[in-house]
Amino acid sequence: MRFSKRTNWNLAENDFTRAVREVRASGVEVLDLTVSNPTACGFAYDSEALLGPLSDSRALVYEPEALGMVRAREAVAGYYREHRTEVGVERVCLTTSTSEAYSFLFRLLCDPGDEVLIARPSYPLFEFLAELDDVKLVEYPLLYDAGWHVDFYALEAAVTAKTKAVVVVHPNNPTGNFASAKESAALQEFCARRGLALIVDEVFLDYALEGVEARSFAAETCEALTFVLSGLSKVCGLPQMKVSWIVAGGPGVGDAMARLEVIADTFLSMNAPMQFALPQWLAGRGAMQREIRERVRANLAVLDARLAGTQANRLVMDAGWAAVVRVPRHGGFVEEAMERGVLVQPGEFYGLPEGRVVLSLLTPVEIWARGLERLPVG
Ligand SMILES: Cc1ncc(COP(=O)(O)O)c(C=O)c1O
Repeated sequence: MRFSKRTNWNLAENDFTRAVREVRASGVEVLDLTVSNPTACGFAYDSEALLGPLSDSRALVYEPEALGMVRAREAVAGYYREHRTEVGVERVCLTTSTSEAYSFLFRLLCDPGDEVLIARPSYPLFEFLAELDDVKLVEYPLLYDAGWHVDFYALEAAVTAKTKAVVVVHPNNPTGNFASAKESAALQEFCARRGLALIVDEVFLDYALEGVEARSFAAETCEALTFVLSGLSKVCGLPQMKVSWIVAGGPGVGDAMARLEVIADTFLSMNAPMQFALPQWLAGRGAMQREIRERVRANLAVLDARLAGTQANRLVMDAGWAAVVRVPRHGGFVEEAMERGVLVQPGEFYGLPEGRVVLSLLTPVEIWARGLERLPVG
């Protein structure tokens, strides 16, 4: 069989995955500082409150609505109202994941071979998403200088006749930086001037560190056609429920929604029980968000205490579930940690320079403290 070129992936196990498998099989106690699946981090999920809303008998009737049920989209609008912005339901499209939302937008905006600009460092999922939709990702660098900043000269240089959109992850994963108010305005102007769409991934918006202001791009005046993405996997810590959304705004929004509706109608991927449950899940998100924020706060305090006086340091962050640590050595740090039974992620996975590792701040507190103690940070 001759499969499509886009599926010519190298499916061989990489060195890191092999090393993790071997250390787990060796029987030594493994302290995993990379767990980012919130349902596997010891948080208290209220099973009645979460599973009860799934038994709404109205879900027995199939009434497909391409963009999602109005009551479910109203719940999303309610979420933005709490972020001090009015979003009309006609601008909301529900999807089964943020990944699906990206795919819908790539199909809306790009012909095969078209280009989308994406920050580096960033989350590695995008490469696969783009490849599956025959879209080419072109990177623009984020620069680190007591915080992360968009390199607008490099962004400008990356634009070609094939560029269709700029992706901004706000706050970014794993670097945890928000686009500042100045950067947001500059990005809007940059895209508007060139007829590009702005895709803003806000899945971690609600996890700003204390004292940091989180502004949704949905609350800004959109000079460019703008798509804000978010969903339950982070907003409620419920990745298994598979509910996300796109909120569109700016010039051409009516046309964009009409076309998105056809894309969504082709799949009708949202199921009814989840849409009936969505308003209750969103309304109850406060408890889970508080638990997660408290975990992040406590783990950051332990991390900073551990790194004080060592040759390693934590990079500045505004928000999110990950910490980037600059470690004393370039090669061999991840391997040496693994020999001591501690798992950390190489920064290279995210396009970070050498000598950076990524840790998940959702790690259960006791594992976190013991794992950090064993890290070879000098
Ligand atoms: C920045 C970012 N966007 C999107 C996703 C995927 O979210 P979903 O589970 O909704 O597809 C992740 C997952 O970690 C992420 O970090």
